[in-house]
Amino acid sequence: MKFRTLTLTLAAAFLATGLGSAPQASAQSPMQVHEQRVASMKELGGAMGRINQNQKEVAGHPQVVAAATVINNHAKAMPGWFPAGTDMVAVSNGGKNHAKAEIWQAKAEFDAAAKGLETVSADMIRIAAGTDNNAVQEQFKKFGPACGACHSKFRAPLQ
Ligand code: HEC
Repeated sequence: MKFRTLTLTLAAAFLATGLGSAPQASAQSPMQVHEQRVASMKELGGAMGRINQNQKEVAGHPQVVAAATVINNHAKAMPGWFPAGTDMVAVSNGGKNHAKAEIWQAKAEFDAAAKGLETVSADMIRIAAGTDNNAVQEQFKKFGPACGACHSKFRAPLQ
């Protein structure tokens, strides 16, 4: 009888632990966080390509708005893509993690760089909603520097 009680207690404890750890099981590991943000960064590269292709004519403006919207949403989320413990030393991924320690040493500056991209893309959404094609082409020139402002300080050189 005592044995049975103990078994039940252990079973209950096991069940409770199992349920308690369920949310953790679905949380991303540091490696997954790094891989997910690289995938998202590559989406930024794709969106840049679509803007580049569609910036020269008013007919392309809807695609420019769509791609700038992807960039804008990513820029807003970006500060959350870099939780502590996901830097290139903690999670090397065979040298494929390029997130420098400076991100966490100068987090306000890093977040400001994300904000800079957020502003550039928001302006593009507004400008490309109109028919001034010169203004769209001028605005596109601001994207590269907005990406580079962050990469130059916070991303290690890609091999
Ligand atoms: C606020 C900082 C910041 C901004 C702004 C930013 N990036 Fe990044 N980017 C990073 C960091 C840091 C990494 C490295 C992430 C890692 O390796 O886990 C990265 C990685 C990348 C990669 C992956 C390279 C690879 O193969 O490993 C691409 C592509 C990329 N960024 C494109 C862009 C583009 C395009 C823009 C602008 C539209 C942009 N990024 C804006 C910080 C930024």
